[in-house]
Amino acid sequence: MAVDDATITEVQLGGRRGGPDVATLRTDKWWKLPVTTVAVLSAFIVYATWAAFFGTSNFFYAAHNLLSPFYSPCLGNICKTQGVTTSPFLGWWQLSPALIILVFPLGFRMTCYYYRKAYYRSFWRSPVACAVQDAHSTYSGETRAPLILQNIHRYFFYFGLVFNVLLTIDAVQAFIWPGGGVHMSIGTLVLCLNASLLWLYSLSCHACRHLCGGQVRNFSKHPIRHKLWKFVTPLNAKHMQFAWMSLVVVAMTDVYVRLVASGTITDFKIF
Ligand code: FES
Repeated sequence: MAVDDATITEVQLGGRRGGPDVATLRTDKWWKLPVTTVAVLSAFIVYATWAAFFGTSNFFYAAHNLLSPFYSPCLGNICKTQGVTTSPFLGWWQLSPALIILVFPLGFRMTCYYYRKAYYRSFWRSPVACAVQDAHSTYSGETRAPLILQNIHRYFFYFGLVFNVLLTIDAVQAFIWPGGGVHMSIGTLVLCLNASLLWLYSLSCHACRHLCGGQVRNFSKHPIRHKLWKFVTPLNAKHMQFAWMSLVVVAMTDVYVRLVASGTITDFKIF
């Protein structure tokens, strides 16, 4: 369909927001996506806040070496050295150790390019959707405080990689139970799934793709970076899916470990 020049509103920094003068020109259920985004992100924020502040017990199931990702690396009173020990690092820290740990993975997610789009649209309603009136009259982008701090994302990416390594180690250690030998349970698979999705989320990150192939003028002179860029580019196309899957699974992993550690359910042994 040809677009009439008269209907185009140019977007300018500091200028008036685009969008129609009426609430919306759309007749479809465009609001479903922002409403779903608000529901899922709100549920995650409420659950993670509870787990971080109040869920300071049952985050580790010693019998099968299962540690919640919200409490990894283990900085609290319960560590993986066969039961209860004193904290190796945080004798002075009286609050939940998750409050120290979660700053990094949550900072990584909060500054993620995809989540920014999602929560600007759904919570801030700016822009809400095509052909829907913007909730704000002016546009400053991310050019000044506090949103300019979103540019810190590339550094959170490096911290995210460190946590991916730690959670991968947790998943591998979950195969080795305190009694000795190698075992596999549903919990082991849950930890493996969680670590895998977090790797996919990180490797599909826009900052990761830029790190691999950004600012390269001639790929033929940088064959390794070209290979890395070709590897992460198809993952990058699925970044939104990995963002949601990893978010849900990391919360479900915490729930699973708590249910097992509290004796509510049994961690079924596969071998
Ligand atoms: S863009 Fe989403 S994690 Fe980097």
